[in-house]
Amino acid sequence: MARQYWRPSNMLYPVPAVMVSCADEEGRSNIMTAAWTGTICSDPVMVSVSIRPERYSHDVIARTGEFVINLTTEDLTYATDFCGVRSGRDVDKFEHLHLTKVPSRCVKAPSIGESPVCLECVVTAVEKLGTHDLFIARVVQVSVDERYLDKKGRLALEDAGLVAYVHGVYLSLGKKLGTFGYSVRKKNGARKAVGTSRRSSVSAKPEKQHKQEKGLSPKRKMNPDARSPRKKKQGEKPEHK
Ligand SMILES: Cc1cc2nc3c(=O)[nH]c(=O)nc-3n(C[C@H](O)[C@H](O)[C@H](O)COP(=O)(O)O)c2cc1C
Repeated sequence: MARQYWRPSNMLYPVPAVMVSCADEEGRSNIMTAAWTGTICSDPVMVSVSIRPERYSHDVIARTGEFVINLTTEDLTYATDFCGVRSGRDVDKFEHLHLTKVPSRCVKAPSIGESPVCLECVVTAVEKLGTHDLFIARVVQVSVDERYLDKKGRLALEDAGLVAYVHGVYLSLGKKLGTFGYSVRKKNGARKAVGTSRRSSVSAKPEKQHKQEKGLSPKRKMNPDARSPRKKKQGEKPEHK
C-alpha cells in the first residue's frame, strides 16, 4: 500500500474543541476556543492548553493564573467556532452569543452554563514552546450539568452530543464501539486473565461487531478520495496555527 511522507505537521486527531473561559482583574470575562488541550495527569488532576501569545486570553490567563475548560456539544458548535475566530479585544463573546455566565466555585473565571462539564483550572507552570505557550494547570473543581446524570447519578456524557475536531472540521461523535476494557472482558463482565493463553485473548469477543474492526468500512474502501489526504497543497493551513 502506497504512503506519502509529509513534513512534520500537527496531525494528532481527533481532538476536542473546548471553550476556555477566563476573566481579567476587573471581572471582564472572555472565551477562546482551544483544540490543543489535553489531560496530562490523574493525580493531581492536571490538564494543559497551548495558547499563542497573540490571543487576548493569553495575557489574561497568564496574569490571573486561572481559566475554565468548558466541554462543547453539537448545540455549542456555532459558539465554539465563533469564539475561535473573534477576539475578546473586539467583542464580548458571552453577550454576543447569549451564553450563560455561571460563577465558578474555585476560580474567578466564569463557567459556561450551557456546557455539560466545566473544569476549573489553576495554572501551575507555563512553558514557552515556540509559536505557543503551554499552560499546565491543576483542575481544582469540576461542575457537571445535572441533565446528564442518569437515575443512578452516573454522568452519561456519551449522550451529551460532544463534538470532536478533526483537521479543520467539527464532527459529532458516532456510534458506540465499545467501553473501556471491552477487548479483554468476558461475557459475564469479568476481565480475562492476561497472558494465560494466546488463544483466549484472540478469541475475546468485542461488545458489538463492527465493520470498522477489520479496517476501513466498505463505503470508504469504495471511495478513493476518502483515503487521499486532500487535494489542497500539502502544508496548507485549514485552521488555527
Ligand atoms: C477549532 C479551533 C481551535 C483552536 N485552538 C486553539 C488553540 O489550541 N490555541 C490557540 O492559541 N488558539 C486556538 N484557536 C484560535 C483562537 O481560539 C482564536 O485566535 C481566538 O479568536 C482567540 O480569542 P481571544 O483573542 O479572545 O483570546 C482555535 C480556533 C478554533 C476555531
